[in-house]
Amino acid sequence: MVKVSPSILAADFCNLEDDIRSVSSADWLHLDVMDGMFVPNISIGIPVVQAIRKYTSLFLDTHLMIEKPVRFIDDFAQAGADLLTVHLESDYPACIADALHAMEANGVKKAVALRPITAAKAILPYIERLDMVLVMTVEPGFGKQKFMEHQLDTIREVRAIIDKYHPGCELEVDGGITPETAKLVVEAGATVLVAGSAVYGADDPAKAIEALRHPL
Ligand code: DX5
Ligand code: ZN
Repeated sequence: MVKVSPSILAADFCNLEDDIRSVSSADWLHLDVMDGMFVPNISIGIPVVQAIRKYTSLFLDTHLMIEKPVRFIDDFAQAGADLLTVHLESDYPACIADALHAMEANGVKKAVALRPITAAKAILPYIERLDMVLVMTVEPGFGKQKFMEHQLDTIREVRAIIDKYHPGCELEVDGGITPETAKLVVEAGATVLVAGSAVYGADDPAKAIEALRHPL
């Protein structure tokens, strides 16, 4: 069954405790970390991850949209992240490998993410060590953007690579996910759906999560 990971980027940061409780039926909780360099926006960082960890037992799916993430892997792991995702475009390949190694040393799950411009085959050097691959279906940086339909091809290509080299690896999709696009990405091979506005913009977040789990 598909997992749903609500993105708190769409939550009310002044009422984060309530807004995390309202999605407690979710499988994971998606935390978007932005540095104003890798993406043209700044969001939350280490102290906020640490604070959230005290209030929830949800699996913290932490999406690092930052330059040279290897610098901060220990900090985010110690703050309580369960899974860390680094972007393949955020550093040289050797440093991405070092970041994955640091995740291993900290006992957290490991993932790499692809911007829409990045080809599926870029995951090949890492695939056997990964717990998850994240395919972006919008340019990272902001919520509420339109789903990029051409990314369905990348999702299918990543699915084929996962099936061939590491069938247990999760395939997460992030950006513009609604019950309609959820159906398309699940058909293309996604196993984890990130949703910000589709969950927090709904009158009943729990119902929205359930709808994403069983796309139309
Ligand atoms: C965008 C973030 C997403 C964002 C998704 O850079 O990575 O996680 O919160 O928001 P929606 O679901 O509204 O597209
Ligand atoms: Zn994200």
